[in-house]
Amino acid sequence: AGEIFLSTSRLMRNASEGTFGKAPYFQHSVSGWRLNSSLVMIIRKEILHFLDAERDVSVVKSNFKPGDIIHYVLDRRRTLNISHTLHSLLPDASPMKNRRFNTCAVVGNSGVLLNSGCGKEIDSNDFVIRCNLAPLANFSEDVGLRSDFTTMNPSVIQRAFGGLRNESDRERFVQRLIMLNDSILWIPAFMVKGGEKHVEGVNELILNRKLLLRTAYPSLRLIHAVRGYWLTNKVNIKRPSTGLLMYTLATRFCNEIHLYGFWPFPKDSSGNPVKYHYYDKLKYRYFSNAGPHRMPLEFKTLKFLHERGALKLTTSKCT
Ligand code: CTP
Repeated sequence: AGEIFLSTSRLMRNASEGTFGKAPYFQHSVSGWRLNSSLVMIIRKEILHFLDAERDVSVVKSNFKPGDIIHYVLDRRRTLNISHTLHSLLPDASPMKNRRFNTCAVVGNSGVLLNSGCGKEIDSNDFVIRCNLAPLANFSEDVGLRSDFTTMNPSVIQRAFGGLRNESDRERFVQRLIMLNDSILWIPAFMVKGGEKHVEGVNELILNRKLLLRTAYPSLRLIHAVRGYWLTNKVNIKRPSTGLLMYTLATRFCNEIHLYGFWPFPKDSSGNPVKYHYYDKLKYRYFSNAGPHRMPLEFKTLKFLHERGALKLTTSKCT
């Protein structure tokens, strides 16, 4: 019973000292998992010292005026001009203001989801968060269809939608956005230079086609604040991955957080290959220092929190 009174700093210190298993390749059954509500509250409170997800989830109209020049968050030497189009799509108030849920799913994009049969379970959560506009239609048995909050790195436009250069790419993209209905589309537009043309193209399409979805653009401080929280807890990440960012934000809004599609390893527990993404052929060097993330370390931390009942991590089939 004393465990719930441990501060998360202490928890994480244990985590980084290797309290949990050394072998990265494991899958665990979720049976027997129990929510630890006191720990959930401790974590929420600690994260609130670093960021307020209600506010930091998005900048709002009153933060800027068209023509303002801002520095990119991860590349301070370069600047971005807040265009009229971008400004008109900034929300008037936080799209997450006063929104609270009993259960939330945060869905990562690992191939571990294939043949999981988790679609129904994922969709049964009160709020579903998905990353990088991952396709759902041909994978619904395993990943579900519902999305209340969808992230989209600007690089996705180049990688999956041909940079919106021709009409068929634009149409395919618009069809994907239409599937989001009135969900929140979260675009990290201020991180690094390079994607601004794509963000502008996306914004123009949303406006011209009068799409229902609601756009959000993370605050300039969010990524540093999230990194700060984990670093303070001795989780030595370089830059939080989208999945970890979403878990961190979700602690503010959700009592019970269920994670799916987090498996940053090339093989499963039986040694079978696992795709990096459930939907494409992209390869990833999980343990490379060259990449921006440390997903295996993030996973180890999430697994640790799963074992303490702070969140529920599903990496096996859903029954
Ligand atoms: N993820 C994971 N294991 C994988 C693939 C993804 O745990 N094999 C998690 C990560 O937290 C990742 C999230 O799912 O951030 C979404 O996956 P993806 O769209 O592939 O993210 P990336 O584009 O690789 O990275 P970024 O975090 O920069 O968006």
